[in-house]
Amino acid sequence: MRTNQPQTIYLSEYTVPAYLVDHVDLRFELFEDGARVHSTLTIRRNPQGSELAQPLVLDGDSLTLEAVHLNGDELAPDAYEEHDGQLVVANVPEAFTLGVVTWIEPQNNTRLEGLYKSSGMFCTQCEAEGFRCITYYPDRPDVMARFRTRIEADRSAYPVLLSNGNPVEQGALEDGRHFVTWEDPFPKPCYLFALVAGDLVEKRDSFTTVSGRNIDLRMYVEPRNAEKCDFAMDSLKRAMRWDEEVFGREYDLDIFMIVAVDDFNMGAMENKGLNIFNSSCVLASQDTATDAAFQRIEAIVAHEYFHNWSGNRVTCRDWFQLSLKEGFTVFRDARFSEDMGSPTVKRIEDATLLRTAQFAEDAGPMAHPIRPASYMEISNFYTLTIYEKGAEVVRMIYNLLGPAAFREGSDLYFQRHDGQAVTTDDFVQAMEDASGVDLGQFRLWYEQAGTPVLTVSDDFDEARGIYRLTVEQAIPDTPGQTDKKPQHIPFALGLLGAGGESLPLRLSADDEAPQTERVLDLREPTQSFEFHGLSEKPVPSLLRHFSAPVRVNYPWTREQLLFLMSHDPDGFNRWDAGQRLAVDVIQSLIGQPDSAEIEPRLVDAYRHLLNDTDLDQALVAKMLQLPSEAYLVELSESADVPAIHHARERVLNHLAVALRDDLLACYERNQGGGDYQLTPTAIASRSLRNTALAWLLHIDDERGRELANSQFEQADNMTDRLGALRALVNSGFDEDRTRALDAFYERFSDDPQVVELWFSVQASSSKAGQLPQIHRLLEHPAFDWKNPNKVRSVVAVFAGQNLPAFHNPDGSGYNFLAEQVRRLDDSNPQIAARLVTPLTRWRKFAPTYGQQMKAALEGIRDKQSLSRDVYEVVHKSLA
Ligand code: PHE
Ligand code: ZN
Repeated sequence: MRTNQPQTIYLSEYTVPAYLVDHVDLRFELFEDGARVHSTLTIRRNPQGSELAQPLVLDGDSLTLEAVHLNGDELAPDAYEEHDGQLVVANVPEAFTLGVVTWIEPQNNTRLEGLYKSSGMFCTQCEAEGFRCITYYPDRPDVMARFRTRIEADRSAYPVLLSNGNPVEQGALEDGRHFVTWEDPFPKPCYLFALVAGDLVEKRDSFTTVSGRNIDLRMYVEPRNAEKCDFAMDSLKRAMRWDEEVFGREYDLDIFMIVAVDDFNMGAMENKGLNIFNSSCVLASQDTATDAAFQRIEAIVAHEYFHNWSGNRVTCRDWFQLSLKEGFTVFRDARFSEDMGSPTVKRIEDATLLRTAQFAEDAGPMAHPIRPASYMEISNFYTLTIYEKGAEVVRMIYNLLGPAAFREGSDLYFQRHDGQAVTTDDFVQAMEDASGVDLGQFRLWYEQAGTPVLTVSDDFDEARGIYRLTVEQAIPDTPGQTDKKPQHIPFALGLLGAGGESLPLRLSADDEAPQTERVLDLREPTQSFEFHGLSEKPVPSLLRHFSAPVRVNYPWTREQLLFLMSHDPDGFNRWDAGQRLAVDVIQSLIGQPDSAEIEPRLVDAYRHLLNDTDLDQALVAKMLQLPSEAYLVELSESADVPAIHHARERVLNHLAVALRDDLLACYERNQGGGDYQLTPTAIASRSLRNTALAWLLHIDDERGRELANSQFEQADNMTDRLGALRALVNSGFDEDRTRALDAFYERFSDDPQVVELWFSVQASSSKAGQLPQIHRLLEHPAFDWKNPNKVRSVVAVFAGQNLPAFHNPDGSGYNFLAEQVRRLDDSNPQIAARLVTPLTRWRKFAPTYGQQMKAALEGIRDKQSLSRDVYEVVHKSLA
């Protein structure tokens, strides 16, 4: 355990590695009480490095060193030093081989970094710095080597032995043991290394690439999951085809493997040729996975596959460049999902996540640019900012260049940097070089943290027919960054006439072929734009398609928002107008007595939506979702959660009561029937009927109760079954709730993913997830502190989605979370640090809440021997 204060690492201090590794030869001897790792590195001095002879410094963590060899000769213990997580060999020649033997204990590895065991199988997780928990190595992504890996294990317990690349040799050993040797022809950083050993079933398929090569596709899962692979396999084939067609990227090895493991800190990992997935992000069947889960699986399978080029063939020079691979790859998977389903809905979902959670991160104590300048623990920087904002920045480049030039830029990037470890600037440079578009000012998006705020005002000169829009941009201060420079913001907009028609946008009086949608380039602190030839003051539709990750303030009246809700030709902005209206109505009720009137036009607008069968039903389904409590908190200055919750509940109840018959009609109209399908239409239909059900049960409607119970019993898919369960759990029908929860658990108790759903339905419910009930969930036999999915489904869901219970005025929710963080810090620091997130936002809340949150953080800070992960988050939050 660490005793001194963790170090801060700075991008500005980057230096090239002193030594390069050309080849890595690994031999793993796997046993029940540990594993012996023999590593032989072929090393040479880096010609780009310093002229002076440098000591060889290798990283290591939790290793027992058994032997060190230089050019085949065992080194005496005084020829090297082992301290502070490093192995230092002072005198080494220009080129040599270094042999290192280490002993590790995967069976005791609860951090789930490096080599560990999950339900009886061995597996690895090396990103970002897990490889150093396996053997001593220069654990940094700019050291790229060819790996050869021999795995030895008991044949009956571990018949399947996998690593990166192609199998080149296998055979029997003494004592019932066997081995397989794998060779990966592509040089890679060690964070992409992977090993799996287990008793797994294999599912096979194949894919023929555009150039006619036949690729062996294999999934490896525990036998009980054999029937849950088809969807991921089909998603993989769709992703492979799509990447060829849209990005010109062909797969490069002869085998592509996916393995599902139950205990995993993140969603999935793009190890070269051997992707390892959290079971919940890959296994699915109609009976056990919701529509949302299917879509998530499709997106994550594609994401990891796409990394083969954006991440593996071209990788990151250092971890400050993480968004190079993650932002670009999220952009790629988002566009894939748009092509596979409803593009507007996908855009709405991404913008919702960004505005709710990334904006909050950008406004909090951990705010950082998509290319951070410093960190203490890199695991803390796998953030919504790096991933989602990073993807939005790539999307802006895509929109600025247009599809054809963007594709040329991407081709140039892959060709220029194939086999290299590069920086985000190399990416932008390739885009600039291929297109000739000046991205000079645009680069500030990589350097400056914080969400830009656009304040828009307008006036209309009736006599001259000129409508003038003035846009001010301001970027708030963030930790360590003040007085920011204005950024280059692509601002898409349209103007609507009183009849709902799209008006021509003439930026000068003689514009002959005016468009009805334009993208304005904002570059200055304040800019004005004049639109000519208008006969009336238009209604502006701003930031269409969410053209930049910014906040927009414009004083729309409720009348105008209602108008945009039903007339905006941009689906995204129709939805956004509805959200803004609902936010405005809810905000105006916060702190008001229950006698305060609720905007009557809101009911009309939602009635219209519920009965609008002409509009894309997928969009309708999204428009019917009220803004979440988390989003309302994000929008407020000094949040009072119980008051926000109460105001939102009032609106929901009011709508449900007024629209009861429309909800029933909507439910009937969307009564499934027929085969379960995953088309946007079918998904929208299920979403609509489950929203109707949820609203009806929210007001304890008797007919709704009957419908929910019968849907729960008869559903032929998890979306409907869980929709009914969720509605019952959140109703006042206590008996139905208990009965449904028990029946659900009994039916699915042997399926961990479904049990996680069962936990999270309760933990997120303000009716069924009060603290005493949460404690009961933690004591449930299916709960397991060692399994991150279980911890997330109860603890993180409670703190992140059950806002009224978490923000109990007595502070019990905060103390509860702090206690769980302290408990997990010793066993799994990565998960512990992530759990802290809700507390880090303490400044956002009204003082009585904020002070108690702060005290809970202090309670974590004062724990003995805090991990570096939690240390960083807690100290930055209290600074
Ligand atoms: N690189 C993985 C991804 O985005 C995420 C990950 C990071 C997984 C760190 C494990 C550990 O796809
Ligand atoms: Zn990724």
